[in-house]
Amino acid sequence: MAKIFSGVQPTSIPTLGNYLGAMRNFVKLQDGNDCIYCIVDEHAITVPQDPSEIQKNIRNLAALYLAMGIDPKRSILFIQSEVPCHAQLGWIMQCVSYMGELERMTQFKDKSKGKAAVSAGLLTYPPLMAADILLYNTELVPVGADQKQHLELTRDLAERFNNKYGDVFTIPEPYIPPVGARIMSLAEPTKKMSKSDTNRKATIFTLDSEKDIIKKIKSATTDAEASIRYDRENKPGISNLLDIFSLCSGRTVDELVAAYESKGYGAFKTDVAEAVVSALKPIQDRYRNLIESSELDEVLDEGAEKAYAIARKTLKKAEKALGIGRSGKL
Ligand code: AQP
Repeated sequence: MAKIFSGVQPTSIPTLGNYLGAMRNFVKLQDGNDCIYCIVDEHAITVPQDPSEIQKNIRNLAALYLAMGIDPKRSILFIQSEVPCHAQLGWIMQCVSYMGELERMTQFKDKSKGKAAVSAGLLTYPPLMAADILLYNTELVPVGADQKQHLELTRDLAERFNNKYGDVFTIPEPYIPPVGARIMSLAEPTKKMSKSDTNRKATIFTLDSEKDIIKKIKSATTDAEASIRYDRENKPGISNLLDIFSLCSGRTVDELVAAYESKGYGAFKTDVAEAVVSALKPIQDRYRNLIESSELDEVLDEGAEKAYAIARKTLKKAEKALGIGRSGKL
């Protein structure tokens, strides 16, 4: 049994990439593990957000977590800003971080590129993420490949703290799935699929209608060669669709290549779209029942309480090790 923690930002509706790369594994890992899942709204505000939109997105994300299969009887689900220990330990982890290592983070470089004004929060996002994970003595963190660098930094910061102040933090390991860790944009398949992509054809959102899913997959960028084979380097569009098809249908990439090798891109795309619609439909149906229900608030209230009870102990241990506050005063 491992202690698991992960989170998703309520920056918009989760994408097919968020689902296949991370959230599906959150659900699977509930079997036999202690899981804590979070709506990381404090991370979301590192870039400007419309307050009414983020409110809506928080609720949508909570409903989607449950609709995808997070079971509140087995897992804790809560909102980051409702457990103040995250911001408190986040500050401590900032004080353990070096400017140079934060400036080297790929996500910071990508998200700040070409911007006239960049929030300090965008730079200090990784120490806050480290705090999220470390508060729960986490052993395993299921994430997509894009978060690998932040997780390595989390390990470095935890080790640096432990070496200097004593053994407070558990050193977490990443859990990056062998397939689906990097679902690519449908429009530019050399770029990852993202919620914030301004090209609406690039991203499938988990609440997209059947019509939109079919339209987006039909217009996905492929190549001029009419053969279906897996080759990330030379055929990134087809390879991405093969990954998506495989994850949504449960068939292996090899099986799919054998079945579609000579069938042409049109028929292939129709069946990829059908597999995606079938995978998302039950989630969308459950989401519609949950979004207006009071169950959602009960789950989040209980989740915040349970998370706080664990987080508070780790925070106090860290403060005590640093010598801040009054020792033993909770
Ligand atoms: N394209 C992807 N393929 C596989 N996994 C992905 N993840 C994100 N995109 C893909 C994983 O989803 C989890 C939640 O991500 P997040 O909400 O924390 O934000 P992100 O990684 O920044 O995702 P987006 O969609 O690209 O959001 P924006 O555009 O707002 O920055 C993480 O485990 C992530 O690895």
